[in-house]
Amino acid sequence: MNNNQSPVITALDFKHADDALALVQQLSPSLTRVKVGKELFTRAGPQFVEQLQTLGFDVFLDLKFHDIPNTVAGALKAAAELGVWMVNVHASGGRAMLEAAREAIDPSGSTQLIAVTVLTSMDTEDLRQVGVESSAQDQVKRLAQLVAECALDGVVCSPRESAMLRRAHGPDFSLVTPGVRPAVASGAKVTETSGTASDQKRIMTPQDAIKAGSDYLVIGRPITQSADPIKTLEQLVQSLTDAAGGHS
Ligand code: C5P
Repeated sequence: MNNNQSPVITALDFKHADDALALVQQLSPSLTRVKVGKELFTRAGPQFVEQLQTLGFDVFLDLKFHDIPNTVAGALKAAAELGVWMVNVHASGGRAMLEAAREAIDPSGSTQLIAVTVLTSMDTEDLRQVGVESSAQDQVKRLAQLVAECALDGVVCSPRESAMLRRAHGPDFSLVTPGVRPAVASGAKVTETSGTASDQKRIMTPQDAIKAGSDYLVIGRPITQSADPIKTLEQLVQSLTDAAGGHS
């Protein structure tokens, strides 16, 4: 683990390890952690995670485990043995699964355990189709409450949900938010409707997400597709330090 105070987690959404490594070698572990998701992990495996860690990066292993309690617990133990900084499960796996997850990962150890509440790709109608009659927002609240009761370290949430969840769960509950777009990325002004927002619809600037209570910002393309990734990252981290008035 490094003593990184930056809230940025760069999403390594690449098909191949070589492309991810080429990007990572331009970055600095003091400015960002990195996220490895299902595609890259399925192709490149634990060895690639170890390689990132050898380069000094904290790794968020974003595999969103969702299975019977025993299986999830086993997978989480393997992730903790790999030494990842953060790993996640689906809160909708239920209380028994979340409790087994908590037991599998030592809360005083160095691996943070968080949960996805409702995927931001799902709206209230999608939930209704799978038998959930509450609104997406109520379901997020309900699942975050369950996650907190099971003593997990926090949740993945939309930055639009950060203020509500921060109020409900206090300062020690980690809020990890994707859907973040720098106000200036690669020199282009980003708005909710601009092409620079890519396919993210409900975006917020990093400064506003931090003000709303997010602890960590998952940012992919604005960094990975920048002509100068390290400069983009440096500007981003500096703007967050400025916005926080020197607080990290
Ligand atoms: O490139 P971009 O900044 O949109 O990447 C965001 C990252 O966060 C991607 O890895 C994406 O899969 C992930 N993510 C997301 N929305 C969620 C959960 C995860 O964009 N609700």
